[in-house]
Amino acid sequence: MNWQYVAAASEAALRAGEIQRARYGQQIEVEHKGTINLVTEVDRQCEAIIVAALRERFPKHDLITEETRPSRTGSRFVWFVDPLDGTTNFAHGYPCFAVSIALTIDGETVAGVVYDALRGDLFTAERGAGAFRNGRRLRVSNAPELIESLLITGFPYDIHQETAAKLRRFSGMMSRARAIRRDGAAALDLCYVAAGQADGFWEDRLEPWDMLAANLMVEEAGGRVSRYDGTPVRLEPDEIAASNGLLHTKLLAALRLEE
Ligand code: IPD
Ligand code: CA
Ligand code: CA
Repeated sequence: MNWQYVAAASEAALRAGEIQRARYGQQIEVEHKGTINLVTEVDRQCEAIIVAALRERFPKHDLITEETRPSRTGSRFVWFVDPLDGTTNFAHGYPCFAVSIALTIDGETVAGVVYDALRGDLFTAERGAGAFRNGRRLRVSNAPELIESLLITGFPYDIHQETAAKLRRFSGMMSRARAIRRDGAAALDLCYVAAGQADGFWEDRLEPWDMLAANLMVEEAGGRVSRYDGTPVRLEPDEIAASNGLLHTKLLAALRLEE
């Protein structure tokens, strides 16, 4: 039954992605939400399109979005929308950004869509029915050790204030993993774990709209997602570790800075 939600989110994401592709590399208006936290006119335009599309299809559902705070009714159905994940990249013309849309019912993510408009990659996941890229089923990697792993991470916007612990984790992981990447669009990073193109991901703080859709992608592709202590990621800003499953215990131990 959740396929209808995946279809509606895909349609909305494709429309927003069209705008991102058209405006990418052009002169755009950029504002500051914080010292290093940006928002562009394209973020806002994409959000308006997605909100309108979801509201039209599901007028009784609630929406939680990054750039505006639409009023809520207490519905069991809540959409989480990141209209442009990778805003800093987009603003700089760095080709790594996506749309991310997830639906939760009673707090459980049941549908997720991530759309990379530049590559034409539409990632979709439906709880219990698998994860896909452009219709092709995704499966996590089978790397069993950190030393054989390509890991991805990200740094939240509080990095200038909360630097030390993040760097300790980063340097600890550098000496354990084969390699680490940091590309600046968490939703895509997580989709690459789902697709087996990376083996694990962590970040000390992500918002639900950054990660819910892609977390479902990882789980539906056979991987694991949790907090650093192994408990479920909460529906609020939270730390997150994701992996192919085989690596998970080792990834968590390294993130907890254990020997
Ligand atoms: C950010 C990106 C980035 C991550 C940040 C997020 P935004 O989202 O996902 O990779 O490191 O923590 O806030 O602001 O570009 O939508
Ligand atoms: Ca984001
Ligand atoms: Ca965003």
